[in-house]
Amino acid sequence: KRRVVISPSLLAADWSNIRGEVEKCIKAKASRLHVDVFDGVFLDSPHALTFGPQMVQAIRRSCDNCDSQAVLDLHMCVERPLRYVQPMADAGGDRFIFQWEAMGGSDTGALQEAIRLAKAVISSGMQCGVSINPGTDVESIHPLLETGLVDLVDILAVEPGFGGQKFQPRALQKLRDLKEWRDQERDRRKFELLVDGGINEHTASSAVKAGAGILVAGTYLFKHPEGLRAGVEEITAPSH
Ligand code: DX5
Ligand code: ZN
Repeated sequence: KRRVVISPSLLAADWSNIRGEVEKCIKAKASRLHVDVFDGVFLDSPHALTFGPQMVQAIRRSCDNCDSQAVLDLHMCVERPLRYVQPMADAGGDRFIFQWEAMGGSDTGALQEAIRLAKAVISSGMQCGVSINPGTDVESIHPLLETGLVDLVDILAVEPGFGGQKFQPRALQKLRDLKEWRDQERDRRKFELLVDGGINEHTASSAVKAGAGILVAGTYLFKHPEGLRAGVEEITAPSH
């Protein structure tokens, strides 16, 4: 049976009770939490302004409070992401997922620089990834992936910015293509595949079949009528 990791996206949590929401995730055995860092500039909306370093620290403390070393994935939909690396690492962020389109798209140089910096900042080998919008082809990140610097690839199945959108099925082909491409070579392409956005009890199984190893889910989990744990269980074994 396939093993899939569920990563709750705190964008959909109740922020007036972040500690309680994190605790729910930990109790549901989540080992990774997804934190959408939006600056309101790259995603040009005053509503797309989310978690800063202090909030990341509050999330980290909430994990500590449950004796959990959950991995905090920071999805960096921000302009000038480089300047956030040190403060976010100090706040307890574990992995940076840089948004391809926020780094000048085809400018692989800027992204490589960000990743190298992030890896240098954390002595214990910070892992880094890249995320691509629904409209960006997987081929465009091949040169970056060839460098061997990328530990995870986040395939967005919705436009970044807001939770609760509909899953775009074109993400499935991208997952298949990337998985196939990765599996052609042994060493340099060992990245994890995440799918982010629109995950629910229906889309989870197709995403897993297509090759996603990690499902990022916000609205579905936090608004689940039977509670977050039930939602996690449902999409962990997504074959009906
Ligand atoms: C999209 C974010 C996602 C978002 C997913 O802007 O990158 O992480 O929180 O939310 P749902 O699961 O509600 O689509
Ligand atoms: Zn995200």
